Amino acid sequence: MANDINRFQAIISHCKEYGFIFPSSEIYDGLQAVYDYGQMGVELKKNIKDYWWKSMTQLQDNIVGIDAAIFMHPTTWKASGHVDNFNDPMIDNKDSKKRYRVDHLIETFAEEQSATGNEQLAKEVLEQMDALLAKDDFAGLKKLIEDNKIKCAVSGTSNWTEIRQFNLMFSTEFGSTEASEIPPSGGGGANKVYLRPETAQGIFVNFLNVQKTGRMKIPFGIAQIGKAFRNEIVARQFIFRMREFEQMEMQFFIRPGSQKEWYEYWKEERMKWHLGLGIPKEKFRFHDHIKLAHYADAACDIEFEFPMGFKELEGIHSRTDFDLKNHQEYSKKKMQYFDNDMDSATGKAYGNYIPFVIETSIGLDRMFLAVISHAYEEQDLSTPDKPDSRAVLKLPAQLAPIKLAVLPLTKKDGLPEVAERIMSDCRPHFRCFYEEKDSIGKRYRRMDALGTPFCVTVDHQTLQDDTVTIRYRDTMQQERIPLDKVREIVMAAVQ
Ligand code: GAP
Repeated sequence: MANDINRFQAIISHCKEYGFIFPSSEIYDGLQAVYDYGQMGVELKKNIKDYWWKSMTQLQDNIVGIDAAIFMHPTTWKASGHVDNFNDPMIDNKDSKKRYRVDHLIETFAEEQSATGNEQLAKEVLEQMDALLAKDDFAGLKKLIEDNKIKCAVSGTSNWTEIRQFNLMFSTEFGSTEASEIPPSGGGGANKVYLRPETAQGIFVNFLNVQKTGRMKIPFGIAQIGKAFRNEIVARQFIFRMREFEQMEMQFFIRPGSQKEWYEYWKEERMKWHLGLGIPKEKFRFHDHIKLAHYADAACDIEFEFPMGFKELEGIHSRTDFDLKNHQEYSKKKMQYFDNDMDSATGKAYGNYIPFVIETSIGLDRMFLAVISHAYEEQDLSTPDKPDSRAVLKLPAQLAPIKLAVLPLTKKDGLPEVAERIMSDCRPHFRCFYEEKDSIGKRYRRMDALGTPFCVTVDHQTLQDDTVTIRYRDTMQQERIPLDKVREIVMAAVQ
């Protein structure tokens, strides 16, 4: 456990030191649970987005993408149930005044118990918590906390308030505060708008726009990548739980009654997507939801083994017709689809219906954390006469921020000119990086730390025979290859 915590700390430091992730507005001491992606992080994040987007849209004939606005008419959130139901049970410690999400408080207690060998108690407490949460039994949850003498990490006391619900949506005022701008049907005050807590609703309200203009036939999907905002009360664990984050969501519209089959289909597809990156399957597991969200008739998470243990990475939800039905009711606009395919059971066309939906929803930042934490390795490379080590990011080549580093051995003798020729050949096809400072060993180490899968070194032999040394990040092996093969080798690995 201590090792895992140290590893997590090392990953956080590595992210900062090598330009992947910085605390937001750091010069003002940061803003809790908000982070900025640096010059390397933004590339890795974009590559993860592209990998998801390609597999969900380009490689699927019946899924298209959209990019809806973050602000939506406030009635959206009334219809979706977020105004009334997007709450978390919270408890405050009266001595420290610190507020905890009840499930996180109990989960942390359970983790501590299993770390000290008390697996049985951890299991029982979690089972009881799941059952009580499923019934919204707050008195029972408080009793569970008291019976187990769960303490506040700050005050060390068990002096707890009652459990209360807090809404997680951020709100702001819209425009010029003209009361007429937003119809009073908006949830809350006339000018109150919310920062979307999920991207999904932008898809639901555009369901018919896309279906009609794209001539989509059920089953079909709409995918979207975008920012979401949640006022997480206990925001911690680096980019795992943030107040501003990005989601990659896909809503798949299907015939009512076919949801079990499609739910299983998407569970399997999404797991294949994760395994396609070469991360071993033991690092993933499914976790079925016992307490279902207000919109779902079945739901599970794909959990990943992060440095702090198995945690939710992606959700797969069978959302029924909940969202479209409610948007139809609140907007008074029909959300129906006309299906002229024959139902073999009745011999008639399926006709008009509100489609059911299977959703796949993955946090981009969580995927970033999964990828980088799996890739991070500290290796001891000492020999009997020389201590040595390296930190390496064994990122999948297609996700690596830089694919190729081009390194002239010296700054003179025409070597930079040859290196520049390789750069011009490769630059249009993938991201390469030119570096002539420092010893070659130091440059290799820096590229390892950035996750660059290939380095090529241009030396004096290159001038004689047009060959370069290619060095492979993971094995550190080097070989001599013809200069004009560099582009081809890298391209084969990164596509
Ligand atoms: N549209 C369904 C939905 O939003 P969710 O389980 O609340 O479902 C989906 O969120 C995914 O979004 C999660 O599996 C997680 O990866 C990511 N996510 C949720 N809250 C997050 C937060 N505060 N910080 C980072 N990622 C978050």
